[in-house]
Amino acid sequence: MLLIFLFFLIQWINCWNVITSKKIIEPINNDNFIMEDDYLIVSNGSYLLKYEGLQGYRKLHMIFDAKANLSQVEILLKVNGIKRNFLVVEKDFKEFHIEFEHQAADIKIQFNFGEQIQFSIRNFNLFIEECPKNCKYCLSGYCDLEILDQCEKLRYKNQCVDECPKGYISEFRECIKTSLNQLGLNQMSIDNDIGQTKKFGESQELHIDFGQNFVGWMEIVFNCYGKQQDHYNSILKIFKENAQPELIHPFLPIYYNTQSYKQCKQRFELDCIQVKGYLKMEFQEQNTITIYSYSKNVENTGFWNIDEIKLYDKEIKYYECTINECESCSFNQVCSQCKVNLYLYENQCVKQCPYFTIKKDGKCIKIDEEQKDVSFIIKLDSPFQELLSIFGQKTFDMKEQISFRYENGTTYIGGGLKDNWRRTTFTKQLNLGKHYSIRLMFNLSIENSTSELDCFTYTIDGKTYLVHKNVSYIDHPLYHNKNILNLNLGCKISNNGRCVISNYYFMTMKCSPLCLQCVGPLQSDCKAYQKDIDKFDYQKQKCLEGYYLDDYGCIKCSVGCLICETYNKCLKCKDDKDGEFYCLPYI
Ligand SMILES: *[C@@H]1O[C@H](CO)[C@@H](O)[C@H](O)[C@H]1NC(C)=O
Ligand SMILES: *[C@@H]1O[C@H](CO)[C@@H](O)[C@H](O)[C@H]1NC(C)=O
Ligand SMILES: *[C@@H]1O[C@H](CO)[C@@H](O)[C@H](O)[C@H]1NC(C)=O
Ligand SMILES: *[C@@H]1O[C@H](CO)[C@@H](O)[C@H](O)[C@H]1NC(C)=O
Ligand SMILES: *[C@@H]1O[C@H](CO)[C@@H](O)[C@H](O)[C@H]1NC(C)=O
Ligand SMILES: *[C@@H]1O[C@H](CO)[C@@H](O)[C@H](O)[C@H]1NC(C)=O
Repeated sequence: MLLIFLFFLIQWINCWNVITSKKIIEPINNDNFIMEDDYLIVSNGSYLLKYEGLQGYRKLHMIFDAKANLSQVEILLKVNGIKRNFLVVEKDFKEFHIEFEHQAADIKIQFNFGEQIQFSIRNFNLFIEECPKNCKYCLSGYCDLEILDQCEKLRYKNQCVDECPKGYISEFRECIKTSLNQLGLNQMSIDNDIGQTKKFGESQELHIDFGQNFVGWMEIVFNCYGKQQDHYNSILKIFKENAQPELIHPFLPIYYNTQSYKQCKQRFELDCIQVKGYLKMEFQEQNTITIYSYSKNVENTGFWNIDEIKLYDKEIKYYECTINECESCSFNQVCSQCKVNLYLYENQCVKQCPYFTIKKDGKCIKIDEEQKDVSFIIKLDSPFQELLSIFGQKTFDMKEQISFRYENGTTYIGGGLKDNWRRTTFTKQLNLGKHYSIRLMFNLSIENSTSELDCFTYTIDGKTYLVHKNVSYIDHPLYHNKNILNLNLGCKISNNGRCVISNYYFMTMKCSPLCLQCVGPLQSDCKAYQKDIDKFDYQKQKCLEGYYLDDYGCIKCSVGCLICETYNKCLKCKDDKDGEFYCLPYI
């Protein structure tokens, strides 16, 4: 269970990224006139937009606004020579979204049109959806060809191996180049016969006399005699001072705490499995290493012995990092630390944390990751969203043009060169679920306004708030616990100004799961629980002993645990063999 949890944590979730490498613009006929600034390209003849040397993506999404100096002009769009679309362009800017699959390293986007036309595009952005790491080819939207298809052993480069090659140590089942400094065992007497054969159920103590105190690593090789079908739940438990013991499951080849599984020479008419563990130890606190063993199989318990021990006092791991400006990253290309003055956000190193994230230890942490009870109901983050899903229905429409613009990593609504959000109002009804408060946040700019009365308005359940142009952002928390909420957003501007919104978020602070009514996020803040929760004590408002409450009901604590808070957080172990061997008390 712990194992599954670890792998869940390290999974990397892919998403759309904007291509930040420089685009190259070239006329197709050399006499064509092209005017270009950051957000606007004007041309009187066909041209090519190029990005070079991109790797490992599967899908492209192009966003731009386009217009021509005539209406109903057809522009032929080709990508790497292949016809993709005819754009029907008007005299006013219109937003285009084009998505297609693409694998080549260069992208050449060609706009073809006649000489009698002047064609303009603005806010051109190209987004890529990348193939997951370890995926070679992924046109279908999923990985079509995994380099390491379902490798259940260890991953070394593009191979699936039983054991990492020399000079490599496995970490989360990936072989990492590691340099180790081994201690000469002669200098540190081990006063035991390490090869003694033990039954599962017996223990062995190793007394090691260290000349010095240090934090180090122990490599320990066990030969285990048994049969997988009978002994799969046998355990070797290596005791650690002031830390949770390390467990090795010798007959379950799951590579948890182990570096290899190998066949060895049969004895006692039993199979022999050789497993190698590699464990961090704090040797300053511990001169005795005790290895306990246990088997559920009472009659035929199987045997084990220690084959070899090596100790190391230095370990340096070399992760190859392909993330820009990342100082240190893990085996699966998850950046853990950016270079100085940069912050880690969504596995990239950025100069500035996006708004609605919190700066902490060189990282930008999203509010909802920091606070588990926060749930985003609306999030304006990418320009792929629909206006309707963000703002709701237009209820008072002046036929104003309102669209998305993506600039400097931020999505704006109503900010295009021709966009005029002046008097349009949007209405949205939100179903919030069980919650105890809400929070509305957005950045606002009222551009080109001439009147002091110009303002942006928002209405929550009938109560209206005005935001004047001297205010550039709103952060409005509010106690609220009704399930349905009506929200109106509108711009009220008299002349030629316009409203521009960015970083728009609406979030609720949730009740704990299965709670019908609450005043805060904790289980103790719950005033009423859902009916019919199995194994739930409604008098005490909590699960029966031996169970804990999760999102779906009362769940049994882990094996050997008497009282627990969550599956991995046991407050009290049982007073029996299961408790002694399977239960990991939470420290
Ligand atoms: C338009 O392009 C032609 C070449 O195709 C060029 O000779 C002409 O000067 C351009 N017109 C303008 C207004 O830039
Ligand atoms: C549109 O622009 C082209 C190129 O600049 C020009 O030759 C043409 O006369 C323009 N047409 C109109 C109707 O303005
Ligand atoms: C985007 O960044 C550029 C360069 O840093 C800056 O000139 C421009 O004003 C920025 N745009 C917005 C909308 O912040
Ligand atoms: C958005 O609002 C936040 C409020 O903290 C502010 O720090 C940030 O500069 C604003 N962004 C823009 C583009 O105005
Ligand atoms: C902004 O302007 C409005 C109206 O002009 C005024 O009522 C409000 O106090 C001002 N707010 C700030 C923060 O200056
Ligand atoms: C700003 O307002 C003036 C009139 O007050 C108008 O002529 C001008 O076009 C406006 N500028 C923009 C960029 O909307």
